[in-house]
Amino acid sequence: MTASAGAMRESALPLPIVRRGKVRDVYAVDADRLLLVATDRVSAFDVVMGETIPHKGAVLTQLTAWWLRQLDGVLAHHMLSADADEIVREVPALASHRDALAGRAMLCRRTDVVPIECVVRGYLSGSAWKEYRRAGTLAGEALPRGLVESARLEPPVFSPATKAESGHDENIPVSRMRELVGAGTAAELERLARLVYERGRDVAAGRGIIIADTKFEFGQRDGRLLLIDEVLTPDSSRFWPADRYRPGGPQPSFDKQPLRDYLEGERGAGRWNGEAPAPPLPDDVVRATSERYLDAFRRITGATLSLSAQP
Ligand SMILES: Nc1ncnc2c1ncn2[C@@H]1O[C@H](COP(=O)(O)OP(=O)(O)OP(=O)(O)O)[C@@H](O)[C@H]1O
Ligand SMILES: [Mg+2]
Repeated sequence: MTASAGAMRESALPLPIVRRGKVRDVYAVDADRLLLVATDRVSAFDVVMGETIPHKGAVLTQLTAWWLRQLDGVLAHHMLSADADEIVREVPALASHRDALAGRAMLCRRTDVVPIECVVRGYLSGSAWKEYRRAGTLAGEALPRGLVESARLEPPVFSPATKAESGHDENIPVSRMRELVGAGTAAELERLARLVYERGRDVAAGRGIIIADTKFEFGQRDGRLLLIDEVLTPDSSRFWPADRYRPGGPQPSFDKQPLRDYLEGERGAGRWNGEAPAPPLPDDVVRATSERYLDAFRRITGATLSLSAQP
């Protein structure tokens, strides 16, 4: 048996498929509801790997569900249920697929997606560090001088991006976001994104994980903004182990570091050119990555992911 045994590459459900992203399959349930299914696909350096990572999809869905429950009463969100038995009761067409859904599926309110990625950065990393190093700015706006790579940003910086259909999202100034969605919606998106990030950052910090930055999406429904998509997961955020935090350089990624290290090694040795297809992953890399995702879930929620609920 390989390390990927039991993991899911692609879902196949008897509902109309709306899209397959790098990680999630989205189905239409009816005019009001969507089913989001997180598969066990994994990407690194924008390339989807041939292997799947056991339990990764369930970690993404159950961690999102956990955060959204913490946020009940704080802001409106899209989750209706992340419990397979309940989903099957709600959508009888899925009755014979209960085990395939277990842990990884979320029944959601369907919204009109606001075409802005609401990025909040509490630490200077990634594309933000690149721009700052070059121009001293972030999305065109000045930041204090003398910051080092991975420096903590206080207060956190809201840095929106446009949702690109393909390729990389583009950072845009807040003034551009106002033109795209209107001043009122822009202000509300920023307020909500900051609120959720600051709560998440504080909770995770108490549990040994730095959420360096994260991306939220919002959707409109009945004239209200709802928090949608995935929330404060390792795939939508940079998670760093707090005990290894050393500003002044890049930080190890909590979850994908074994995978990144392996791929860097293959590239350095001239066995991979950095583009799809990715090289095959050894079992120990798959296992180590799976273990990191489970550990992130355990640390943040204080609970072990229920594996018995999965096939
Ligand atoms: N409640 C919702 N209503 C409408 N659309 C939603 C809702 N929640 C999530 N979505 C959309 O579902 C999709 C989730 O798919 P997924 O994240 O896998 O793909 P993606 O973000 O488009 O691409 P990528 O592979 O880069 O992540 C996103 O396009 C997101 O905007
Ligand atoms: Mg996405």
